[in-house]
Amino acid sequence: MTTVVDIEEPVVAIVVAAGSGVRLGGEGPKALRLLAGRPLVAWSLDAMAAGGAVSAVLVVADGTQALYDAVVTEAPLPVTVVAGGPTRQQSVAHGLAALPADAAVVLVHDAARPLVPASVVAEVVRAVRRGAGAVIPVVPVTDSVRRVTADGSVVVDRATLRAVQTPQGFRRHVLVAAHDAAAGHDHTDDAAVCEAYGVPVALVPGSPDSLKVTHAADLALAGAVLAARA
Ligand code: CTP
Ligand code: MG
Repeated sequence: MTTVVDIEEPVVAIVVAAGSGVRLGGEGPKALRLLAGRPLVAWSLDAMAAGGAVSAVLVVADGTQALYDAVVTEAPLPVTVVAGGPTRQQSVAHGLAALPADAAVVLVHDAARPLVPASVVAEVVRAVRRGAGAVIPVVPVTDSVRRVTADGSVVVDRATLRAVQTPQGFRRHVLVAAHDAAAGHDHTDDAAVCEAYGVPVALVPGSPDSLKVTHAADLALAGAVLAARA
């Protein structure tokens, strides 16, 4: 029997942009902070659109629609804004509840990761289309790493470690079921939500350019990555 894969099945991205940006500091939502004159979330929307695979985006954000009006109007693909939750996981759940009926593949991306290359987005989508239920982009860890215990600390072989990025990609029904089962537990990403539900997580190469803006220095670094691109 031949398995027919519908390559036209819609891919919808949930861009999580709520939260308080405590570690970044400064005024206003982190997602609206400017990188080379444009809000971080606008860069993230460009990144979702760049490969041509994503057909629509749900931005999960705190504050009013009015705050996001300019971003939505200028976005390169259709965008709907929905309200955020008190944790990242709950913000993703709000996005899942608002998915269009025909979304078969779902990406979840941090607005705080504005410079993910189109090639990484494409790899994640490809791996889901090839049959993976959950896919994450990863990069090698460059720092030496130690595990800290009550008795001291021990070195961890970093060759066995990977840092996890976004967008993470999922079969829609897998992510929805995993999130339903995870309500009440707080996971830091959606791959962890899926793993807790027993879903194997596939890895694809991420990119060192796809840094997450967490602290103030990360904004400067993102500016340097952009300048190097130009
Ligand atoms: N996020 C969200 N809803 C939350 C918390 C976080 O949508 N309740 C989003 C952020 O907008 C960000 C991503 O999840 O794009 C990763 O979160 P993080 O970088 O930790 O952002 P903040 O939680 O806003 O920052 P901090 O932890 O420093 O307060
Ligand atoms: Mg946070």
